[in-house]
Amino acid sequence: MKLNTTKHRHSGTRRRPITRPIAAALLGATLLTGCQQANQSLFIGDMSSAYNREIWWMSVWAIVLSIIIFVGVSYALFYTINKFREDKHDAPPAQFHGNNRLEVILVAVPVVIVFGLSILTVRSMAILNPTPAQATKIDVLGKQFWWNFAYPETTSDAGGVVTNGNEIIMPTKQPVALTITSGDVIHGFWAPNIGGQRAAMPAVKKTWQVDTDRAGVYQGNCSQLCGGSHANMRYKVVALDQDRYNTTLAAMKAYRAPEPAPGSAEARGYALFMQGKASTQAVACAACHRVQGTPAAGAAGPDLSFFGTRRTLGAGMWEAMTAAQWTEPKAKEQLHEWIKHSPAVKPGSLMPSYDGSEYLSKGQKLKGGVLTDAEIDDISAYLRSLKLPEEADYWSGTPINGANASGGTQ
Ligand code: CUA
Repeated sequence: MKLNTTKHRHSGTRRRPITRPIAAALLGATLLTGCQQANQSLFIGDMSSAYNREIWWMSVWAIVLSIIIFVGVSYALFYTINKFREDKHDAPPAQFHGNNRLEVILVAVPVVIVFGLSILTVRSMAILNPTPAQATKIDVLGKQFWWNFAYPETTSDAGGVVTNGNEIIMPTKQPVALTITSGDVIHGFWAPNIGGQRAAMPAVKKTWQVDTDRAGVYQGNCSQLCGGSHANMRYKVVALDQDRYNTTLAAMKAYRAPEPAPGSAEARGYALFMQGKASTQAVACAACHRVQGTPAAGAAGPDLSFFGTRRTLGAGMWEAMTAAQWTEPKAKEQLHEWIKHSPAVKPGSLMPSYDGSEYLSKGQKLKGGVLTDAEIDDISAYLRSLKLPEEADYWSGTPINGANASGGTQ
């Protein structure tokens, strides 16, 4: 019996090395495809950002100092081993107690090293932490599982602060002060191209300065495990040169959602959006979403004011990298599926299902109302009509970071 157990154990250990490389290969493949999609350089930061340049040079100095320390310690170690190794022909080594000079050196040297390294950190903090008064201010709100980006200094002509869901528009070549908070659990704001990452915490507002010199569309992710759709809590950073930024923000300020023509699909969609459908208990979209220039002022979900100009859906779960892709039948299908039963396509989504199935809201199982496919298409048509004027289409012509040349923007 005993022999058998040993044998089993042995065969078990022999099998493990085979499964390990397979698992590693699978993980590697997943990571590689992940890199391709995310279009991010994780090795060296994006040097177009002064924030990243500061961190990079601080790291270079820290690494240089570490190499000097490593060489020094290695030299001392090998010197000592060599000099004081046992010599059988020699007399026993000198016996003594304590060595004041050595002890002072052993305390003083590490103190100097730690002090030197901490100067680097403190210096970078002093450079990066203060937010200049003239910085563009953007309020960032993270919620399960989406983002709202508000421009507190820009009140729209239609009332309310200009806000965009899941796509943050910022100017280039100047500091941008993000004031980050969360509406529920802790999230992480992480857009590596414009700076490092910061926690978004409920009931806490933290201001943080980011920047980039180069116009472009950059990837942002939630970097703090926050629930079932943590990985589906993405956003786009759209950095525009000053003129385009001003044009876009001015258009956002002046924007009022277009009034649909009577009898059109958009008009039917508008009615459903605002009132829902009482006969089937379908909740109105307006209860949770805001659309600038309409009575819709919900704050439980992302702002939809400029939905038709956006090219991401479901907080970056689907994205169209060209204007054409956004109008393809596939994109329409995705939007249809999204409205019909968002919790079925995005785990943990707090949006109601409109296919009559159950969904979870604040820990409670609720039954969603029912909308027909035609009604859902009407709502889609209305959402797609929520467009900024052409000159304020912030995606148009903006290079997409990491995309190949043919994957242009138009
Ligand atoms: Cu929010 Cu992870």
